[in-house]
Amino acid sequence: TSILVLNGPNLNLLGTRQPEVYGRTTLKDVEDMCVARGKDMGLDVVCLQSNHEGVMIDAIHAAKGTHGGIVLNAGAYTHTSVALRDAIASVELPVVEVHLSNIHAREPFRHHSHIAPVALGQIAGFGAQGYDLALQVLAEHLGTPS
Ligand code: DQA
Repeated sequence: TSILVLNGPNLNLLGTRQPEVYGRTTLKDVEDMCVARGKDMGLDVVCLQSNHEGVMIDAIHAAKGTHGGIVLNAGAYTHTSVALRDAIASVELPVVEVHLSNIHAREPFRHHSHIAPVALGQIAGFGAQGYDLALQVLAEHLGTPS
């Protein structure tokens, strides 16, 4: 089973971006870990990062028929994008929402997620480990033998 790990705006700067909030792990570290952990779980992980909402929407559309599920950290679009939510609802693929930081412990504008109602669930506050947890959830959900 193939899984898309989709990271949104500013996550290309991981490792140097506000390390006190997001840690020192780079996006490449996160993506390499996802591919390796996915392999352990019998998942074929494909990673994509974009700073552009439309590119993310196109990637979600293209995931239908290509991937069995999506691990999504939509960055700030989580809090703003009805369009991303609609894209997820349209493809009917299982999506696990991930945030490195605990968005519920931060500014009030980060507490609301447009993604959460159309996701299987949300993982927030566990740093890069959240991606690993999300892959475990999808592996189990999809019944992938590991
Ligand atoms: C984030 C949390 C968002 O509020 C923020 O805009 C991000 C990263 C996280 O992973 O903690 O860009 O999604």
